[in-house]
Amino acid sequence: MTTVLPADGLMLGIETSCDDTGVAVVRPDGEVVAAAVASQVELHDRYGGVYPEMASRAHVDAILPTVRKVLTDADLRPADLTAIGVTRGPGLIGSLVVGTNSAVGLGDGWGLPVYGVNHLRGHLRSADLDERRVTYPAMVLLVSGGHTLLAHLAGPGEVELVGSTRDDSVGEAYDKVARMLGLGYPGGPAIDRLAKDGAADVPFPRPAMDLELDFSFSGLKSAVSRFLAANPDHPHENVAASFVAACLDVLVAKCRRALERRPSRCLVVVGGVAASPQVREAAGALCEEAGVSLCLPPLRWSTDNGAMIGLAAWDYLARGLDARPRPDTSLTIADW
Ligand code: KG4
Ligand code: ZN
Repeated sequence: MTTVLPADGLMLGIETSCDDTGVAVVRPDGEVVAAAVASQVELHDRYGGVYPEMASRAHVDAILPTVRKVLTDADLRPADLTAIGVTRGPGLIGSLVVGTNSAVGLGDGWGLPVYGVNHLRGHLRSADLDERRVTYPAMVLLVSGGHTLLAHLAGPGEVELVGSTRDDSVGEAYDKVARMLGLGYPGGPAIDRLAKDGAADVPFPRPAMDLELDFSFSGLKSAVSRFLAANPDHPHENVAASFVAACLDVLVAKCRRALERRPSRCLVVVGGVAASPQVREAAGALCEEAGVSLCLPPLRWSTDNGAMIGLAAWDYLARGLDARPRPDTSLTIADW
């Protein structure tokens, strides 16, 4: 059973799966009425990665002020909201517990239903924020810190996983290589900036080319580490550019293969690494070659945010799903 959504409905989306406290108010058509992200980058920078216990505590401090800020910015009262959507997984368990408990508390207090949303479905929906972009059937490349996968969408919400990484995600590889190069956290944007001025002169491996649609990035990460140990004076911008070139070759080859295997009208590229200008450009060139359109979320909706969770929550409401927000770190992209 699907419910017709109220065009003027307002969903409060809350995202706390990792190190950003994201909150937004979103209409069913993807219009973002207001949004804010309380970033923990400075907190984790000194550890070179996310420190889970500190992330949970920072969410506790940030969540209610961020909700209050978004409602104030949009000049809304809780009674104006239709429902609340909150990330229930996958992610760091402590961070998920803070988000889901807070959302349940707010829902009980304000008399609103609360939907537990799969973070990965949130990323999928990020490509339809601000305006509708995705046409079906679609092929999705999700490249984030926690995941690297390909999924086919036969229609809205009809997700089939067709490939995923066997070890590290591409975002994880970016973060670890950034650390080896002495760059800060998060590594993705820092690698992008450095690689821009470098020459891809190191022939790093293109791992897992023989696997049909699956990925593997741990070998590439180790190859960078070995190269740096043996060639400490090699220009770091060239190492970064060579690493990015290897990642792009693998991502593009797998997307090309996926588009050949499954009928798709567009390629959707989402997740934090979709904020990379090099990834955006390479995806654009592939789409031109393959004759499909490219659907990218605006930059601000590529990394974790509350708006994508809010938009995904409308799908739960429309389907009448009973999604009490129980945290679950093991959700796959096909789960609700
Ligand atoms: O989707 P996301 O915000 O969080 C997860 O769900 O994991 O993705 C975070 C990942 C990190 O690995 C980060 O280094 C990477 O996305 N990232 C980028 C860029 N911005 C964030 N990677 C490449 N270029 C960027 N501009
Ligand atoms: Zn994410």
